[in-house]
Amino acid sequence: MYVCICKGITEKQIQDAVTSRSSNNPKEILKALGVGSDCGTCVEDAVKTLLDSHARSPFEMKDGPNNT
Ligand code: FES
Repeated sequence: MYVCICKGITEKQIQDAVTSRSSNNPKEILKALGVGSDCGTCVEDAVKTLLDSHARSPFEMKDGPNNT
């Protein structure tokens, strides 16, 4: 299923980016894929997909408000 229509990014591509650990930073993963870089309406669904993927393949949340 497409998460980002503008960039043609699917839920699977986001999940694969998390599991391949191309980055430990959620913002970097979305930025690398181009998700949210056009109209931005996909960001909420993209973050949900990231969090769901994170639950299955934990990664360090570097940019969270509790991380300094
Ligand atoms: S749907 Fe993702 S930037 Fe527009």
